[in-house]
Amino acid sequence: MILCAGKGSRLYPFTNNRPKTLIPVTNTPLLQLSIMKLMELGIDRIGIVIHPSQEADIRGQFGEGEAWGISITYIYQHEPKGIANALKQAEDYLSGEAFLLLLGDNLISAPLSDLKNDIEQGGVQASLLLAEVEDPHDYGIAEIQDSRIVGLEEKPAHPKSNLAVIGGYAFTKEIFGAVNEIAPSKRGEYEITDAIQRLIEQNYDVAYRVTDQLNIDVGTKERWLQANQKLLNADALKKRIHDSVRMEGCTIVEPVSIDKDCVLKDCRIGPYVSVGAGSRLENCQIENSIILNGVHMKDLPFPINNVIIGEHSIVAGGLMDKEVKEP
Ligand code: G1P
Repeated sequence: MILCAGKGSRLYPFTNNRPKTLIPVTNTPLLQLSIMKLMELGIDRIGIVIHPSQEADIRGQFGEGEAWGISITYIYQHEPKGIANALKQAEDYLSGEAFLLLLGDNLISAPLSDLKNDIEQGGVQASLLLAEVEDPHDYGIAEIQDSRIVGLEEKPAHPKSNLAVIGGYAFTKEIFGAVNEIAPSKRGEYEITDAIQRLIEQNYDVAYRVTDQLNIDVGTKERWLQANQKLLNADALKKRIHDSVRMEGCTIVEPVSIDKDCVLKDCRIGPYVSVGAGSRLENCQIENSIILNGVHMKDLPFPINNVIIGEHSIVAGGLMDKEVKEP
């Protein structure tokens, strides 16, 4: 299962008219990265929970999975009532089978095979991916005693550890009993954290795997840039400049990703820059930034760094006072 129904309001305006899980990281939609991660494990049936308003965009891009040789089924969550509520909508689809659950807005680097094995070997009803985080108030936090999870708390005021649940889970059907028993949290959502806590209270076994790999909840613009940087670094040796790209007088500082049909002239691009398809850049210096599709940029009076430029934007220097100083 991949959950995609969230609004992504912290990424406005980029998510005003597109689902958060379709924002590109190294020119690849986040959702595609999650699908590929599941396919690596040999999973060929994927349920995606979406809001009906996302149907055209998401189904439009991934169809029923034909192009990938897998089967994708769309399940609707009509109101943003939390992860446990999203999962509840998928109960019939899963029809009692064990499953992996990914939050579609998380870039998970850690392998999911351990979670899958934990469940397949039997004896546990859930297995969770955990990672140490610097800001435990922003996550579901696990309390561990004698190597066992004894409690879970969603965004605690007084965290009992810095081990966070980071958006990768495996469950057996028992989770649905718990999902059906919990009440909404203070933020008005049915929390998956509370459902897992319920499993623990019912003496079910909840396993966990701690990863030290960087996993990013791509919920803010800063983390989107961070995710882009992280993925470019991971694939640093892979050539990511599309064959159709035309360049003249440019300096490329790897790692970068430049998608198809871009035309670049007299630019210095990189490191850590993604340029979306069909963009035209002339006389620009860009570092650590995401340029979405169809952007036109010309004659920037100073280098830019740490920016995200929206689709089909036109950014032109040269019209400004020649005396303009770098801010
Ligand atoms: C959600 C979960 C939380 C988890 C986090 C991971 O939080 O509720 O338990 O730690 O994802 O990104 P949300 O993104 O809804 O704030």
